Amino acid sequence: MALIEIKVPDIGDFSDVSVIELLVKPGDSVKKEQSLITVESDKASMEIPCSASGVIRELKVKLGDKVHEGSVLLMLETSSEHSSSSSSEPTSSIGAPSTPKSIPGASQVMSPETKDGSLAKIRVEVKIPDIGDFKDVSVIELLAKTGDRIEVDQSLITIESDKASMEIPSSHAGVLVELKVKIGDKVNIGDLLAVLESSERVNQETSVPSPPGVSPQALLESPALSTPSAPGAPAAFADPSSSPGLPNKALASPGSSPEVAPSLPLHQPAHNLTANGKIPHASPSVRKFARELAVPLDELKGSGPKGRITHEDVQSFTRSVMLGNAATKAQQIKTGLSQGGSGSGVGSGAALGLIPWPVVDFAKFGPIERKPMSRIKKISGANLHRNWVMIPHVTNHDDADITELEAFRVLTNKENEKSGVKVTMLAFLIKACVACLKKFPEFNSSLDGEDLVYKSYYNIGFAADTPNGLMVPVLKNADSKGVLQISQEMAELAKKARDGKLSPAEMTGATFTISSLGGIGGRYFNPIINAPEVSILGVCKSSTQPVWNGKEFAPRLILPLSLSWDHRVIDGASAARFNAYLGQILSDFRRVLL
Ligand code: COA
Repeated sequence: MALIEIKVPDIGDFSDVSVIELLVKPGDSVKKEQSLITVESDKASMEIPCSASGVIRELKVKLGDKVHEGSVLLMLETSSEHSSSSSSEPTSSIGAPSTPKSIPGASQVMSPETKDGSLAKIRVEVKIPDIGDFKDVSVIELLAKTGDRIEVDQSLITIESDKASMEIPSSHAGVLVELKVKIGDKVNIGDLLAVLESSERVNQETSVPSPPGVSPQALLESPALSTPSAPGAPAAFADPSSSPGLPNKALASPGSSPEVAPSLPLHQPAHNLTANGKIPHASPSVRKFARELAVPLDELKGSGPKGRITHEDVQSFTRSVMLGNAATKAQQIKTGLSQGGSGSGVGSGAALGLIPWPVVDFAKFGPIERKPMSRIKKISGANLHRNWVMIPHVTNHDDADITELEAFRVLTNKENEKSGVKVTMLAFLIKACVACLKKFPEFNSSLDGEDLVYKSYYNIGFAADTPNGLMVPVLKNADSKGVLQISQEMAELAKKARDGKLSPAEMTGATFTISSLGGIGGRYFNPIINAPEVSILGVCKSSTQPVWNGKEFAPRLILPLSLSWDHRVIDGASAARFNAYLGQILSDFRRVLL
């Protein structure tokens, strides 16, 4: 048994790089070359491997620490005698990276339009520089496009092996004439990467073609080749054959956010871009893990530093999908649950494991007329379908005694007759619901992954029946408005909805929705929650009912309430309390002031 220090090995020109991930903890048994931590500079990141097998007794670094070659990472208890000096000495077999090399990585070709030998437009071939022992590494990202003005050392592509990734910089400045690789290509040292048109001074020294024949190892061992700013050389990277390697650094991509088209294959796990056009921020080992599970990394939210996606994030996403709490975009498209597009129609049912939708020749049974669904119906249909299938709905029905409130409403309308503002029960309901949402904040929340987002604003959507179909205008900041103002704004929004003039801003941002069928009829119904909200109140027509007051049956005006709620967020007792409190407020509206 021996207790040895495990130190950061030779990591090339990296110095004072940040520890961004701890991959092990005290008590863990680790194998030689198992990754211990991830470090990251501005151009690259790498996993630092262990130089021996044993049990970790103490971690000597924490997240955010800066480390360099020789920094003690941890104390390891090894089973065999192990000299401390040998274990702590960085060796090339444990992650010594191939440091940036001064291979010019370029050859020049005079362009036809060259007239002057001293300052001429030249075509420069940029080649893959020394990338250590990397062989046949995949191009995962193109960072420049034809016509781009490229600076020396500007990254052109990102390549990735299963253990490491790196940006390949340009050896020259100029305008990018052609990128000679595409995503998915395999590259090696000396491969032609790009052709630039450069206005550089023609210089014999720089016109030396890159030496693909030179052994990377020879270059690695030559101190003269470790110039960090050497053009054509990538940022320092670990030798993948001898090291657990380097994770990827998230990179800005010139690509735009990809629209998910229904024709997409199920997943492109590793290389999808995030909504803001970036490669998801994750280490190569996490990428590999995601690839194995076909997890679309671009759909994950990283919980690590700077939003880095961790191993646990991939596990937890996979768990959520398996439990049916989340669906990948591809799954949504396949099952027809995505918003709009093909999702609005009737799906085959096959993806849900259901028998197919019946195909009937209706004309066989009588005359028919076929009309296309309105755009609004298609969109709202797709949303309702998704919400109905994906949210575990429960509905609590209750009654509220609104006898006094209705008398007050009638009086208010009389008093405000001249103003033109008409107060309906819905305006009181909006005000009363805000009071309930304040008392039961989870009803004003949204699910975001495994987090609940509680909102401190109260924007109430209300379902409006329009000639084109159902629309849900949103009355913003209802908590700061009186019933008269609410009535006025509601009337304006409802008119806009019927005229098809609602702006997107007037239909978004709701925290809770009310669907009132009070002007039409009915008793109770199960309203469908408007995701990402977690509850919705359905209201039907009030009617006079005999209510026992302890002595006798008295005629009371009763309003039927139906509260649907997301059982992932809210439980039945809370829903019953919400309805009871709403009933109390509606029967004595002074409670809204409490
Ligand atoms: N009980 C009894 N009467 C009610 C009532 C209730 N709960 N709610 C409204 N009324 C009365 C109003 O007082 C009004 O009466 P009046 O004409 O005698 O003054 C009448 O019904 C019509 O009211 P309405 O114009 O519908 O106003 P509103 O403020 O209640 O509702 C809208 C406004 C826009 C929400 C409503 O017009 C609408 O479109 N409702 C349909 C919502 C829907 O489709 N929901 C289903 C979604 S799946």
